[in-house]
Amino acid sequence: MSETAKIELNGKMYEFPVVEGTENEKAIDITKLRQETGYITIDSGYKNTGATLSAITFLDGEEGILHYRGYPIEQLAEKASFIEVAYLLIYGSLPTQAQLDDFTSNITKHTLVHEDMKQFFEAYPAKAHPMGVLSSMICSLSTFYPESLDPNRSPEAKNLTILRLLAKLPTLAAWAYKNSMRHPFMYPKNGYDYCKNFMHMMFAMPTEDYDVDPVVVDALNKLLILHADHEQNCSTSTVRIVGSSQANLYATISAGISALWGPLHGGANQAVIEMLEKIHNDGGDVDKWVLKAKDKDDSFRLMGFGHRVYKNFDPRATIIKKACDDVLEKLQINDPLLAIAKKLEKVALEDEYFKSRSLYPNVDFYSGIIYRALGIPTEMFTVMFALGRLPGWIAQWKEMIEGGEPIGRPRQIYTGATTRDYVEINKR
Ligand code: CMC
Repeated sequence: MSETAKIELNGKMYEFPVVEGTENEKAIDITKLRQETGYITIDSGYKNTGATLSAITFLDGEEGILHYRGYPIEQLAEKASFIEVAYLLIYGSLPTQAQLDDFTSNITKHTLVHEDMKQFFEAYPAKAHPMGVLSSMICSLSTFYPESLDPNRSPEAKNLTILRLLAKLPTLAAWAYKNSMRHPFMYPKNGYDYCKNFMHMMFAMPTEDYDVDPVVVDALNKLLILHADHEQNCSTSTVRIVGSSQANLYATISAGISALWGPLHGGANQAVIEMLEKIHNDGGDVDKWVLKAKDKDDSFRLMGFGHRVYKNFDPRATIIKKACDDVLEKLQINDPLLAIAKKLEKVALEDEYFKSRSLYPNVDFYSGIIYRALGIPTEMFTVMFALGRLPGWIAQWKEMIEGGEPIGRPRQIYTGATTRDYVEINKR
């Protein structure tokens, strides 16, 4: 007999089915709860709420496991290319060589952005945060491709939008940086692969080629893979919920970029470096900052520590920590912030406050140090996260749209004033 859950309300028993995933995760299916009982559930921050069934990413926070479409993240980070992983996430299986060639060439064809978009950049102040620019630019793409406005127009139209997004986001991201420097934009080079092309658009100048170091390309490839999907996190849930209103994919991804920006989510990689710089400039007394993080009257938190789902270790952080050591050694960079990061990690991991709350370094703790080593400016770190997360957002949106999921619309328990009559202003 299949497992069920029983809820007793006012002496009456209600039974609900239990759903089991392929990795034996279990959920109580309360789809009929309100209809049958008149009650809803409250779960602030959705800590216990499964918003969907999904076949894209599996993660086990207790065991520190992360799989994309069944493949362990360690194997993908070691052996695959980012474009291969993007294909895997979006279309469900690893590509054959012919499929990969076709996918790569289709993306390459769309790397240019409409020349009119260059004028948008000019209107932004030089100090504009690149995440604000990127989010607006991605939404603006919908105005150039009106056929994308109906996300269900045709499978071909949907796929074209997907390819355009994958192709144009690196161009727009690199141009956001060039614009902040008031440097001329560099056009994409279609003979380069995805990562090399991005570094070229970031760092080449019309006067000077940028010699892209293969060590840098490898590290970037790995970082993008590690960020490519992470099931129903804040930005991905945003993408699924915005997309569920049948908004177009450009607007939907733009919303995901905005959600990612916050320092408790993707913005943490920028916040980590700013925190390490602050500790460094303050004399490097790590213990003092650990004490501050533990003080409930102090709003300071150790950025890059803790995770909603990982309560043992973040497997991405383990891979990144090693990659960080490799990159710094190969590029012969001696970064004082790395020494502070390592000391901070050691002190925090031995501290009862962090141990008892299962607070471990997350993916963002070391990624910023690699980005620094690659020459990426701090304000661009969250943009790099968005570049990596794009295939995951697209895959999750595609699954939601093709699965015919209903519009996302949570309920609430109202706690405001009960009915009262309007009082004229002169009588209040
Ligand atoms: N430093 C100090 N204390 C912390 C930290 C931290 N980084 N993170 C959590 N805590 C404490 C928190 O004060 C609370 O203590 P208490 O039980 O005494 O009230 C306890 O640990 C549980 O924290 P929470 O805020 O209830 O946990 P959450 O699951 O709601 O939040 C989090 C998860 C990632 C938002 C949080 O750990 C945090 O703010 N970390 C720093 C920001 C960060 O690195 N974010 C990147 C996440 S990984 C990238 C991504 O996928 O987005």
